[in-house]
Amino acid sequence: MDMVKRPRRLRGGETLRRMVRETRMDKASLVYPMFVVEGRGIRHEIPSMPGQYHYSLDMLPAALEEAADAGVSSIMLFGIPDKKDELGSGAYDRDGIIQRALRTGKETVPELYYITDVCMCEYTSHGHCGALCGHDVDNDATLPLLAKTALSHVQAGADMVAPSDMMDGRVGAIRETLDKNGYVNTPIMSYAVKYASAFYGPFREAADSAPSFGDRKTYQMDFHNVKEGIKEALLDVEEGADLVMVKPALSYMDVIRRVSETVHVPVAAYSVSGEYAMIKAAAEKGWINEEAVICESAASIYRAGADILITYYAKELARYMDEGRIG
Ligand code: PBG
Repeated sequence: MDMVKRPRRLRGGETLRRMVRETRMDKASLVYPMFVVEGRGIRHEIPSMPGQYHYSLDMLPAALEEAADAGVSSIMLFGIPDKKDELGSGAYDRDGIIQRALRTGKETVPELYYITDVCMCEYTSHGHCGALCGHDVDNDATLPLLAKTALSHVQAGADMVAPSDMMDGRVGAIRETLDKNGYVNTPIMSYAVKYASAFYGPFREAADSAPSFGDRKTYQMDFHNVKEGIKEALLDVEEGADLVMVKPALSYMDVIRRVSETVHVPVAAYSVSGEYAMIKAAAEKGWINEEAVICESAASIYRAGADILITYYAKELARYMDEGRIG
Protein backbone atom coordinates (compact mmCIF):
# COMPACT_ATOMS: atom_id res chain seq x y z
CA MET A 1 0.00 0.00 0.00
CA ASP A 2 1.31 3.42 -0.93
CA MET A 3 -0.10 5.28 2.07
CA VAL A 4 1.86 8.04 3.83
CA LYS A 5 -0.78 9.15 6.26
CA ARG A 6 -1.74 6.45 8.70
CA PRO A 7 -3.76 7.75 11.70
CA ARG A 8 -3.27 4.42 13.47
CA ARG A 9 0.46 5.23 13.82
CA LEU A 10 -0.35 7.49 16.80
CA ARG A 11 -2.42 4.82 18.52
CA GLY A 12 0.33 2.25 18.69
CA GLY A 13 0.82 2.02 22.45
CA GLU A 14 -0.36 3.40 25.79
CA THR A 15 2.62 5.77 26.28
CA LEU A 16 2.18 7.27 22.84
CA ARG A 17 -1.59 7.52 23.19
CA ARG A 18 -1.19 9.37 26.45
CA MET A 19 1.43 11.67 24.90
CA VAL A 20 -0.90 12.79 22.12
CA ARG A 21 -4.07 13.19 24.13
CA GLU A 22 -5.91 16.34 23.11
CA THR A 23 -7.90 16.79 26.30
CA ARG A 24 -5.99 17.27 29.53
CA MET A 25 -7.73 17.12 32.86
CA ASP A 26 -6.67 17.76 36.38
CA LYS A 27 -8.32 16.64 39.58
CA ALA A 28 -8.06 20.26 40.79
CA SER A 29 -10.98 20.97 38.45
CA LEU A 30 -13.35 18.48 40.10
CA VAL A 31 -16.13 19.52 42.46
CA TYR A 32 -17.94 16.99 44.63
CA PRO A 33 -21.56 17.72 45.69
CA MET A 34 -22.61 16.58 49.18
CA PHE A 35 -25.89 16.61 51.13
CA VAL A 36 -26.21 17.59 54.77
CA VAL A 37 -29.24 16.97 56.97
CA GLU A 38 -30.38 17.70 60.51
CA GLY A 39 -30.13 15.00 63.15
CA ARG A 40 -27.35 12.89 64.63
CA GLY A 41 -25.54 9.77 63.52
CA ILE A 42 -27.00 9.94 60.03
CA ARG A 43 -25.16 8.53 57.06
CA HIS A 44 -28.03 7.32 54.92
CA GLU A 45 -27.58 6.20 51.37
CA ILE A 46 -29.84 8.07 48.92
CA PRO A 47 -31.97 5.37 47.24
CA SER A 48 -31.90 6.86 43.74
CA MET A 49 -28.18 7.71 44.01
CA PRO A 50 -26.35 4.63 45.30
CA GLY A 51 -22.99 5.58 46.78
CA GLN A 52 -24.17 9.10 47.74
CA TYR A 53 -25.33 9.89 51.27
CA HIS A 54 -27.18 12.24 53.56
CA TYR A 55 -24.84 13.27 56.36
CA SER A 56 -25.74 14.80 59.68
CA LEU A 57 -23.24 17.34 60.97
CA ASP A 58 -21.50 14.89 63.33
CA MET A 59 -20.88 12.52 60.41
CA LEU A 60 -19.80 15.24 58.00
CA PRO A 61 -16.10 15.61 58.96
CA ALA A 62 -15.33 11.94 58.20
CA ALA A 63 -17.04 12.25 54.82
CA LEU A 64 -15.16 15.46 54.02
CA GLU A 65 -11.94 13.79 55.06
CA GLU A 66 -12.69 10.90 52.74
CA ALA A 67 -13.23 13.28 49.82
CA ALA A 68 -9.99 15.11 50.57
CA ASP A 69 -8.11 11.81 50.88
CA ALA A 70 -9.48 10.72 47.51
CA GLY A 71 -7.83 13.79 45.97
CA VAL A 72 -10.88 16.03 45.69
CA SER A 73 -10.13 19.66 46.58
CA SER A 74 -13.53 21.34 46.24
CA ILE A 75 -16.95 20.39 47.43
CA MET A 76 -20.40 21.83 46.88
CA LEU A 77 -22.75 21.67 49.82
CA PHE A 78 -26.52 21.22 49.72
CA GLY A 79 -28.58 21.56 52.88
CA ILE A 80 -31.81 19.81 53.71
CA PRO A 81 -33.56 21.55 56.60
CA ASP A 82 -36.14 19.89 58.83
CA LYS A 83 -38.45 22.90 58.72
CA LYS A 84 -39.69 24.69 55.64
CA ASP A 85 -41.82 27.81 55.25
CA GLU A 86 -43.34 30.01 52.60
CA LEU A 87 -40.29 32.30 52.30
CA GLY A 88 -37.62 29.66 52.83
CA SER A 89 -36.24 31.37 55.91
CA GLY A 90 -34.00 28.39 56.70
CA ALA A 91 -31.91 29.32 53.67
CA TYR A 92 -30.65 32.54 55.27
CA ASP A 93 -30.82 31.58 58.92
CA ARG A 94 -27.49 32.22 60.62
CA ASP A 95 -27.86 28.82 62.28
CA GLY A 96 -29.38 27.03 59.31
CA ILE A 97 -28.17 23.63 58.22
CA ILE A 98 -25.74 24.92 55.58
CA GLN A 99 -24.36 27.66 57.79
CA ARG A 100 -23.59 25.14 60.55
CA ALA A 101 -22.21 22.65 58.00
CA LEU A 102 -19.84 25.32 56.73
CA ARG A 103 -18.60 26.14 60.21
CA THR A 104 -18.12 22.43 60.94
CA GLY A 105 -16.35 21.81 57.66
CA LYS A 106 -14.05 24.82 57.82
CA GLU A 107 -13.10 23.92 61.36
CA THR A 108 -12.49 20.19 60.86
CA VAL A 109 -11.33 19.93 57.22
CA PRO A 110 -10.03 23.40 56.36
CA GLU A 111 -7.98 22.20 53.39
CA LEU A 112 -11.13 21.77 51.27
CA TYR A 113 -12.59 24.61 49.20
CA TYR A 114 -16.24 25.16 50.09
CA ILE A 115 -18.77 26.14 47.44
CA THR A 116 -22.44 26.48 48.34
CA ASP A 117 -25.55 26.18 46.22
CA VAL A 118 -27.63 29.31 46.76
CA CYS A 119 -31.30 28.51 46.22
CA MET A 120 -34.60 28.45 48.06
CA CYS A 121 -36.22 25.24 46.81
CA GLU A 122 -35.00 23.00 49.65
CA TYR A 123 -36.27 25.55 52.17
CA THR A 124 -39.67 26.64 50.85
CA SER A 125 -42.84 24.78 51.82
CA HIS A 126 -43.98 24.89 48.16
CA GLY A 127 -40.62 23.71 46.76
CA HIS A 128 -40.18 26.57 44.30
CA CYS A 129 -36.91 28.48 44.02
CA GLY A 130 -38.17 31.77 45.44
CA ALA A 131 -41.02 33.77 46.95
CA LEU A 132 -44.37 33.16 45.34
CA CYS A 133 -46.78 35.63 43.86
CA GLY A 134 -49.90 33.61 43.15
CA HIS A 135 -48.69 30.48 41.37
CA ASP A 136 -45.46 31.87 39.99
CA VAL A 137 -42.16 32.86 41.54
CA ASP A 138 -41.89 36.61 42.08
CA ASN A 139 -38.51 37.43 40.56
CA ASP A 140 -37.77 40.77 42.16
CA ALA A 141 -39.10 39.85 45.60
CA THR A 142 -36.80 36.81 45.56
CA LEU A 143 -33.58 38.74 44.86
CA PRO A 144 -33.10 40.12 48.41
CA LEU A 145 -33.73 36.63 49.86
CA LEU A 146 -31.06 35.14 47.60
CA ALA A 147 -28.63 37.94 48.44
CA LYS A 148 -29.24 37.38 52.16
CA THR A 149 -28.73 33.64 51.68
CA ALA A 150 -25.44 34.10 49.83
CA LEU A 151 -24.20 36.56 52.46
CA SER A 152 -25.06 34.18 55.29
CA HIS A 153 -23.10 31.41 53.53
CA VAL A 154 -20.05 33.59 53.11
CA GLN A 155 -20.27 34.79 56.72
CA ALA A 156 -20.35 31.14 57.78
CA GLY A 157 -17.20 30.41 55.76
CA ALA A 158 -18.18 29.65 52.16
CA ASP A 159 -15.27 30.24 49.78
CA MET A 160 -17.53 30.64 46.74
CA VAL A 161 -21.28 30.91 46.20
CA ALA A 162 -23.22 29.34 43.35
CA PRO A 163 -26.74 30.70 42.78
CA SER A 164 -28.92 28.06 41.11
CA ASP A 165 -32.37 29.67 41.26
CA MET A 166 -32.41 31.19 37.72
CA MET A 167 -34.01 34.49 38.78
CA ASP A 168 -33.11 37.43 36.53
CA GLY A 169 -30.64 39.82 38.11
CA ARG A 170 -29.61 37.62 41.01
CA VAL A 171 -25.89 37.68 40.27
CA GLY A 172 -25.90 41.48 40.40
CA ALA A 173 -27.95 41.49 43.59
CA ILE A 174 -25.64 38.98 45.29
CA ARG A 175 -22.48 40.79 44.13
CA GLU A 176 -23.77 44.08 45.49
CA THR A 177 -24.64 42.58 48.88
CA LEU A 178 -21.34 40.74 49.21
CA ASP A 179 -19.38 43.86 48.26
CA LYS A 180 -21.29 46.08 50.66
CA ASN A 181 -20.38 43.70 53.44
CA GLY A 182 -16.72 43.64 52.54
CA TYR A 183 -16.61 40.32 50.69
CA VAL A 184 -15.29 41.80 47.46
CA ASN A 185 -13.02 38.82 46.87
CA THR A 186 -15.58 36.03 47.18
CA PRO A 187 -16.24 34.60 43.70
CA ILE A 188 -19.69 33.88 42.30
CA MET A 189 -20.20 30.85 40.09
CA SER A 190 -23.58 31.31 38.52
CA TYR A 191 -25.73 28.46 37.32
CA ALA A 192 -26.12 30.68 34.26
CA VAL A 193 -27.39 28.12 31.79
CA LYS A 194 -29.65 25.85 33.74
CA TYR A 195 -32.31 23.89 31.93
CA ALA A 196 -35.68 22.72 33.23
CA SER A 197 -34.52 19.12 33.19
CA ALA A 198 -35.94 15.73 34.06
CA PHE A 199 -32.36 14.72 34.87
CA TYR A 200 -32.73 16.42 38.30
CA GLY A 201 -35.19 13.75 39.41
CA PRO A 202 -32.94 11.86 41.86
CA PHE A 203 -31.63 15.12 43.35
CA ARG A 204 -35.13 16.33 44.10
CA GLU A 205 -35.76 13.12 45.97
CA ALA A 206 -32.41 13.49 47.77
CA ALA A 207 -32.98 17.15 48.63
CA ASP A 208 -36.73 16.89 49.13
CA SER A 209 -37.07 19.86 46.82
CA ALA A 210 -39.61 18.89 44.16
CA PRO A 211 -42.15 21.68 43.55
CA SER A 212 -45.47 20.87 45.24
CA PHE A 213 -47.35 22.18 42.20
CA GLY A 214 -46.43 23.04 38.64
CA ASP A 215 -42.86 22.93 37.40
CA ARG A 216 -39.82 25.19 37.09
CA LYS A 217 -40.33 26.13 33.46
CA THR A 218 -41.01 29.81 34.12
CA TYR A 219 -37.48 30.22 35.45
CA GLN A 220 -35.33 27.33 34.23
CA MET A 221 -34.59 27.15 30.50
CA ASP A 222 -36.37 25.29 27.71
CA PHE A 223 -34.15 22.46 26.49
CA HIS A 224 -34.74 23.39 22.85
CA ASN A 225 -32.71 26.57 23.21
CA VAL A 226 -29.05 27.45 22.97
CA LYS A 227 -28.93 31.14 21.96
CA GLU A 228 -30.92 31.86 25.09
CA GLY A 229 -28.17 30.12 27.07
CA ILE A 230 -25.54 32.38 25.54
CA LYS A 231 -27.68 35.38 26.50
CA GLU A 232 -27.97 34.10 30.08
CA ALA A 233 -24.22 33.49 30.34
CA LEU A 234 -23.33 36.92 28.95
CA LEU A 235 -25.82 38.66 31.24
CA ASP A 236 -24.44 36.90 34.30
CA VAL A 237 -20.85 37.81 33.38
CA GLU A 238 -21.96 41.41 32.95
CA GLU A 239 -23.56 41.32 36.40
CA GLY A 240 -20.32 40.06 37.89
CA ALA A 241 -20.30 36.26 37.65
CA ASP A 242 -16.69 35.08 37.93
CA LEU A 243 -17.51 31.63 36.57
CA VAL A 244 -20.55 30.32 34.72
CA MET A 245 -22.09 26.89 34.72
CA VAL A 246 -23.99 24.80 32.21
CA LYS A 247 -26.33 22.20 33.67
CA PRO A 248 -27.03 19.33 33.01
CA ALA A 249 -23.89 18.25 31.15
CA LEU A 250 -24.15 15.07 29.09
CA SER A 251 -27.13 16.07 26.96
CA TYR A 252 -25.90 19.64 26.64
CA MET A 253 -22.44 19.28 25.12
CA ASP A 254 -23.29 21.69 22.31
CA VAL A 255 -24.26 24.29 24.89
CA ILE A 256 -21.01 23.80 26.82
CA ARG A 257 -19.08 24.25 23.57
CA ARG A 258 -20.96 27.40 22.52
CA VAL A 259 -20.78 29.00 25.96
CA SER A 260 -17.09 28.20 26.41
CA GLU A 261 -16.30 29.81 23.05
CA THR A 262 -18.29 32.92 23.92
CA VAL A 263 -17.50 33.92 27.49
CA HIS A 264 -14.08 34.76 28.87
CA VAL A 265 -14.56 33.24 32.29
CA PRO A 266 -14.10 29.62 33.39
CA VAL A 267 -17.00 27.34 32.48
CA ALA A 268 -18.23 24.65 34.82
CA ALA A 269 -20.46 21.75 33.78
CA TYR A 270 -22.67 19.95 36.30
CA SER A 271 -23.14 16.29 35.54
CA VAL A 272 -26.37 15.97 37.47
CA SER A 273 -28.07 13.34 39.58
CA GLY A 274 -29.97 11.72 36.71
CA GLU A 275 -26.76 11.26 34.74
CA TYR A 276 -25.17 9.60 37.75
CA ALA A 277 -28.25 7.45 38.37
CA MET A 278 -28.37 6.23 34.78
CA ILE A 279 -24.74 5.08 34.85
CA LYS A 280 -25.20 3.47 38.27
CA ALA A 281 -28.36 1.64 37.28
CA ALA A 282 -26.94 0.25 34.05
CA ALA A 283 -23.76 -0.76 35.87
CA GLU A 284 -25.72 -2.52 38.61
CA LYS A 285 -27.49 -4.53 35.93
CA GLY A 286 -24.12 -5.46 34.50
CA TRP A 287 -24.97 -3.81 31.21
CA ILE A 288 -22.06 -1.38 31.09
CA ASN A 289 -18.58 -1.16 32.56
CA GLU A 290 -19.06 1.58 35.17
CA GLU A 291 -15.41 2.68 35.44
CA ALA A 292 -14.98 2.91 31.69
CA VAL A 293 -18.20 4.87 31.28
CA ILE A 294 -17.30 7.28 34.10
CA CYS A 295 -13.99 8.02 32.39
CA GLU A 296 -15.44 8.38 28.92
CA SER A 297 -18.33 10.61 29.92
CA ALA A 298 -16.14 12.86 32.10
CA ALA A 299 -13.55 13.26 29.34
CA SER A 300 -16.28 14.11 26.85
CA ILE A 301 -17.56 16.93 29.06
CA TYR A 302 -14.07 18.47 29.24
CA ARG A 303 -13.63 17.90 25.51
CA ALA A 304 -16.83 19.88 24.92
CA GLY A 305 -15.13 22.83 26.60
CA ALA A 306 -15.75 22.58 30.34
CA ASP A 307 -12.96 23.81 32.59
CA ILE A 308 -14.55 22.49 35.77
CA LEU A 309 -16.63 19.37 36.33
CA ILE A 310 -19.14 19.08 39.15
CA THR A 311 -19.90 15.39 39.56
CA TYR A 312 -21.02 12.76 42.05
CA TYR A 313 -18.16 10.67 40.64
CA ALA A 314 -15.51 13.21 41.72
CA LYS A 315 -13.78 10.84 44.15
CA GLU A 316 -13.52 8.08 41.55
CA LEU A 317 -12.39 10.51 38.85
CA ALA A 318 -9.68 12.00 41.05
CA ARG A 319 -8.25 8.51 41.37
CA TYR A 320 -8.52 7.73 37.66
CA MET A 321 -6.78 11.02 36.85
CA ASP A 322 -4.03 10.20 39.32
CA GLU A 323 -3.61 6.82 37.70
CA GLY A 324 -3.43 8.42 34.26
CA ARG A 325 -6.42 6.46 33.02
CA ILE A 326 -7.79 9.78 31.83
CA GLY A 327 -6.41 13.29 31.72
C1 PBG B 1 -31.47 23.72 43.29
C2 PBG B 1 -30.69 22.71 42.55
C3 PBG B 1 -31.11 21.60 41.81
C4 PBG B 1 -29.95 20.92 41.41
C5 PBG B 1 -28.87 21.67 41.86
N1 PBG B 1 -29.35 22.77 42.54
C6 PBG B 1 -32.46 21.06 41.57
C7 PBG B 1 -33.43 21.78 40.73
O1 PBG B 1 -33.15 22.83 40.16
O2 PBG B 1 -34.55 21.30 40.68
C8 PBG B 1 -29.91 19.62 40.67
C9 PBG B 1 -28.66 18.83 40.84
C10 PBG B 1 -28.73 17.42 40.40
O3 PBG B 1 -29.72 16.95 39.81
O4 PBG B 1 -27.73 16.72 40.61
N2 PBG B 1 -32.30 24.52 42.56
